[in-house]
Amino acid sequence: PHVGVIVVAAGSGTRLGAGAPKAFVGIDGRTILRHALEGVFAAPSAQVVIVAPESRVGDALTEALDAAGDRRDLVSVVPGGTSRQASVAAGLKALWADIDTVLVHDAARALTPPEVFARVAAAVQGGAAGVVPVLPVIDTIKRVSESVVVGAVDRSELSAAQTPQGFRRDVLDAAYVSAGREFTDDAALVAEAGYSVAAVPGHPLAFKITTAADLERARHLVAPAPV
Ligand code: CTP
Ligand code: MG
Repeated sequence: PHVGVIVVAAGSGTRLGAGAPKAFVGIDGRTILRHALEGVFAAPSAQVVIVAPESRVGDALTEALDAAGDRRDLVSVVPGGTSRQASVAAGLKALWADIDTVLVHDAARALTPPEVFARVAAAVQGGAAGVVPVLPVIDTIKRVSESVVVGAVDRSELSAAQTPQGFRRDVLDAAYVSAGREFTDDAALVAEAGYSVAAVPGHPLAFKITTAADLERARHLVAPAPV
């Protein structure tokens, strides 16, 4: 199997509001992108494509070569698009011909452990067209319309989707060619194209850094334990 990982890092980070593109904001001495790449390079893969903001392609390459260690020849960096979906499409175009399994990962899920990459890749290699890591939904969920609770939602049938999401390369290529609108994630895009998507266990550390509170949580998690 030849696994290619596409790390999408081309977003602006509007909700974080840190004054720089989110992937280049520091957690500790290291950026969100750098932490994400540590997890990526700790798992086996044959290519890693980083999708960066146009103005940050050089910075992303520096970070990636640093994180890659002796696997520097696996690294590609390409500029992203105006939506996440456009950025994934840009990453797909940069995949080498021999890549047969694709993992698409949000750089913003900076602390995702390597075991999640391994679990998702294994499920694709085991025959799934698409694979999403999920966590159970903890909160009680209500359907609300115009400030009125209009129905209960059975929490047991709900899951929160994470990344890396994994796909057979031919499936993801075909689904992106046929996509006629924007989808919330790659699994939804692939499901809409008619393929079945399997779920595997996600990980609490694969949470997405979206807001300042999320960044604060990440900072606490990477801080050295007090002596
Ligand atoms: N992303 C991307 N290209 C875009 C938009 C998003 O590569 N045009 C990436 C982000 O860099 C991030 C992941 O998709 O790693 C998930 O997106 P999100 O958390 O929404 O990040 P941002 O779009 O940067 O944040 P915001 O929506 O708050 O602006
Ligand atoms: Mg966004």
